[in-house]
Amino acid sequence: MIDWSYGVSFIWKIVQEIDQKLAYSLNMTSSASMDLHTDPSLFAGLDVYAVAGNPITHSKSPLIHAKFAEQSHQAMHYGRLQPDLGCFAKAAQDFFAAGGKGMNVTVPFKLDAQALADVLTPRAKLAGAVNTLWIKDQQIYGDNTDGAGLVRDLLAQGIVLKGARILLLGAGGAARGVLSPLLDQLPKNLVIANRSAAKADQLVAIFSDLAKEKNTSLESVSLESLEDSKNTAPFDLVINATAAGLDNQSPLSHAAAVNVFVPSSFAYEMLYGKTTSFMQQALQRGARVSDGLGMLVEQAADAFLIWRGAKLASSIDPRAVLALLRS
Ligand code: ATR
Repeated sequence: MIDWSYGVSFIWKIVQEIDQKLAYSLNMTSSASMDLHTDPSLFAGLDVYAVAGNPITHSKSPLIHAKFAEQSHQAMHYGRLQPDLGCFAKAAQDFFAAGGKGMNVTVPFKLDAQALADVLTPRAKLAGAVNTLWIKDQQIYGDNTDGAGLVRDLLAQGIVLKGARILLLGAGGAARGVLSPLLDQLPKNLVIANRSAAKADQLVAIFSDLAKEKNTSLESVSLESLEDSKNTAPFDLVINATAAGLDNQSPLSHAAAVNVFVPSSFAYEMLYGKTTSFMQQALQRGARVSDGLGMLVEQAADAFLIWRGAKLASSIDPRAVLALLRS
């Protein structure tokens, strides 16, 4: 049980009241961006952060960061921004010019955020995308905390990654973003399978040096080849980084699912909010499953600590926030 101090609860009560008022008073602040009560000039005395995406109204990030702020007694406000497509850079520049301290970035702006950043962390460069921006010395810094979030959620669920045999489904931005943190955990094998095989081959080429350094065998295979039982051994961990679940589909055919899952496998779906076809296939084979809600909370925790200071790591409790979201 978390013991909220009276002072912090009081600050948050005021913030919530301001939010309610602004929700009525603010609609479109410019043609480039829908500002959902996030303008930093309206929150004197509070450091203001935001998540930018399109669409964004469904985002759980404001709630997650509000909980971290409560846990660590930070006076901050975290809102939502919905830039029009093609208008991300202007919306982010306006936000920072108005005093915004940091921004999370989600679909479809992670590549725009990478292009906007003046300085990229090594893992953001490798990920090819940015989900966290902040201002330091008048420069915009960009990082990618998605992969670290995935790894921490897996470890928190008791999954052993060192020496594991991992199948990564997908070769888009979500898959690329998690490859270097996964390799850092020293798996034995990492196999990438994607509908468009050439994209999986490209990822193997980009990460082959890192894989060698980590002594991990990294290879790409076609989704169809997973149907061949002679050449497909089961995996310890299967991660679905495709968008197939959004269309109620799984990237795995029934025959492939039969080969890749055994009861000791763990199936991780990066989407959250429902039991996808991919998760159902794993459950039918007796495997354990997880959706991606824990990854969402853990990547947010990393962003929060970048912005507010690593010394707060022991003050925040991402697993309690995850439990709250699930309740
Ligand atoms: P994201 O940033 O979410 O990764 P993306 O870069 O558009 O989005 O990549 C989407 C991924 O989901 C790709 O790997 C895509 O496969 P292709 O590269 O062949 O397009 C995969 N994907 C989407 N729908 C799919 C489906 N129905 N079955 C299998 N893979 C699918």
